[in-house]
Amino acid sequence: MICNNLSINEAGHLTLGGQDTVELARRYGTPLYLMDEDRIRERCRMYKKAMREAFGAKSSPLYASKAASFKQLYRIMKEEEMGIDVVSAGEIYTAVAAQFPLERAYFHSNNKTDADVAYAIEHGIGYFVVDNREELDVIDVVAREKGIRQKILLRITPGIDPHTYAAVATGKVDSKFGSAIETGQAEEMTVLALSKENISLVGYHCHVGSQVFDSDVFLRATAIMLDFAAKMKALHGYEMEELDLGGGYGVRYLDEHPEIDIAANIFQVGIAVKAHCEALGLPMPAVRMEPGRSIVADAGMTLYNVGTVKRIPGYKNYVSVDGGMTDNPRFALYHSSYTVLLADRPESDAPKFRCSVVGRCCESGDILQEDVSLPEDVQRGEILAVLTTGAYNYSMASNYNRIPRPPVVMLRGGESYVAVKRETFEDVCANDI
Ligand code: LLP
Repeated sequence: MICNNLSINEAGHLTLGGQDTVELARRYGTPLYLMDEDRIRERCRMYKKAMREAFGAKSSPLYASKAASFKQLYRIMKEEEMGIDVVSAGEIYTAVAAQFPLERAYFHSNNKTDADVAYAIEHGIGYFVVDNREELDVIDVVAREKGIRQKILLRITPGIDPHTYAAVATGKVDSKFGSAIETGQAEEMTVLALSKENISLVGYHCHVGSQVFDSDVFLRATAIMLDFAAKMKALHGYEMEELDLGGGYGVRYLDEHPEIDIAANIFQVGIAVKAHCEALGLPMPAVRMEPGRSIVADAGMTLYNVGTVKRIPGYKNYVSVDGGMTDNPRFALYHSSYTVLLADRPESDAPKFRCSVVGRCCESGDILQEDVSLPEDVQRGEILAVLTTGAYNYSMASNYNRIPRPPVVMLRGGESYVAVKRETFEDVCANDI
């Protein structure tokens, strides 16, 4: 199995976190998002320990909450003493509602509105990760009105293509995010930030991409960022205290995907940062990383009910389920791979057929996965599981075709509980006048 929280029990059913997924589907209905809370906590602890060991006691991970954002996750992050990365006032609102201490929150986004800036400062956001000049101006004004000095990091584009798919490659020079070192704009932003009375420049941020397996990517980004920091020290006397390396470590969606030892990788980055800082005469900064996917992805699974099985002789087979691109748009958007199994008989020795697993939206592109191998006698009423859906599924879900979003059920120490309720038709119409 692609993650060690998956197994098969005596009934021959797929389990997640030791719990029978077929029973969970019966109890909570389908479609159903499951999230293994124990696994999420384990990943937080792995990151915290690895970062402390690699970079020193002041360093810590921030959970990139765009991967999955709802109140219970912020409560877990609070308990695990994680920081968070938020990208909108909506995520801030959710974190505040969960009593997450906002001084440990870093506010991203390439276009924060005036209202966003005011909202974040009002609620005591710890840091802005400033993307552009306009934002710097607005923060300075609002901070002055509030009588505070707002801590910020500057988002820098180090000019790295992480060899990942283009839609999630954000560290390149032509990215919509941040200011490039190569064009001189990163330096201009540094000078501007230092000139603002109500802004305290704490350090720099970069994020090179998502679903990154190449361990070299973080090493290259680190070297570029430290060289830049050394240049700013030499030219402007500015000494960076914090370096945020962003998120991006990849997860396994398929058996053939590599398994990356994140702790070992972070340790390597730690050695490189120390050596590089020494060589450049820079003090060791507090290091942050912003994992999203690698905290929650393999804690998640989505369960569906099989509805129809359509065979088009000489062409194609379709297995339709009671969810689809509304709860998981990632195949439609990125052609993402997923492991798909029948939860009630993952090890069935029935002959297999190839099929597309599709949803029930009125759109041909509503595909969860193509070219899946399933028992050819699969039939209506069986439970189908799509694995590794903990990241960017619930958070990217929609109500297309007025389909209510599934609930999120968390699994903890052999128990299960609803963390997000199933939407109702009334919820879907709630704002209609
Ligand atoms: N920090 C920043 C500034 C980011 O832009 C991102 C992701 C992360 C951290 C977290 O990256 P992670 O550890 O999750 O790879 N919707 C796409 C992913 C978009 C990622 C955007 N930024 C997907 O479903 O694959």
